[in-house]
Amino acid sequence: MHPMLNIAIGAARSAGNVIVRNLERVDRLTIGTKQRNDFVTEVDRLAEHEIIRVIHRAYPDHAILAEESGAQGDNEYEWVIDPLDGTTNFLHGFPQFAVSIALRHRGRLDQAVVYDPLRQELFTASRGSGATLNDRRIRVSRANGLTGSLLGTGFPFRQQQHLDAYLEMFRVLFPDAAGIRRAGAAALDLAYVAAGRLDGFWEIGLCPWDIAAGALLVLEAGGMVSDFDGGSDYLESGNVVCAGPRLHAAMVTAIGPHRGEALRR
Ligand code: IPD
Ligand code: CA
Ligand code: CA
Repeated sequence: MHPMLNIAIGAARSAGNVIVRNLERVDRLTIGTKQRNDFVTEVDRLAEHEIIRVIHRAYPDHAILAEESGAQGDNEYEWVIDPLDGTTNFLHGFPQFAVSIALRHRGRLDQAVVYDPLRQELFTASRGSGATLNDRRIRVSRANGLTGSLLGTGFPFRQQQHLDAYLEMFRVLFPDAAGIRRAGAAALDLAYVAAGRLDGFWEIGLCPWDIAAGALLVLEAGGMVSDFDGGSDYLESGNVVCAGPRLHAAMVTAIGPHRGEALRR
């Protein structure tokens, strides 16, 4: 195993412990609001602190881009961290949240971990070496089109100016899909696509820490990840569509025309 992936796993497990330990006292947590419908708790901050501590103990010079504390350092290695993806779920005791940690090297995704601390499911990927769930190799599903597919999505609940564009996308995908799920933790949605539990996924306006680790998982599991016009700057735009190659092409064809000007940040 790549030594940096090993560090990422240790950091994710340690943050997962912080999260699970605090789950029974969610009703007593101090909750802040960053913007409309965007909550942060001391657990997000504690978990992030723990991840950065573990990474910097091993690699003191590496740069960090973390959801709660922002960007620090300048180095060809950069860790992209979402300490608790699915905070709203966590606050409601809805059991779908995860720790997401990715490493970029010279701008390229290199290592990834998404860890679900409740189910103790550890998704990992190393560039060029495939993706695993609890040490077993995972692959995207073989869905070859929209018909009968199970899709994941996220609603634009913070950027409601995207609601019309989103609903148009929903409208074109809905009739053929077997189902559409909105589970509330984008990093896990991407990991589920990598594991073939979801055939495909799309969401508008995510942040790099929601996407980075999950994107490498999907790519290393044989899938495609792009923005809505099929391009590769999804980490910058935050607009993501991913699936196995055939379904991915079908999804881009279906939703691309509805992306609108507003989505091109
Ligand atoms: C959120 C979750 C959610 C997605 C949001 C994200 P957070 O992350 O991934 O599924 O719809 O856009 O911001 O705020 O819980 O880390
Ligand atoms: Ca997130
Ligand atoms: Ca978060």
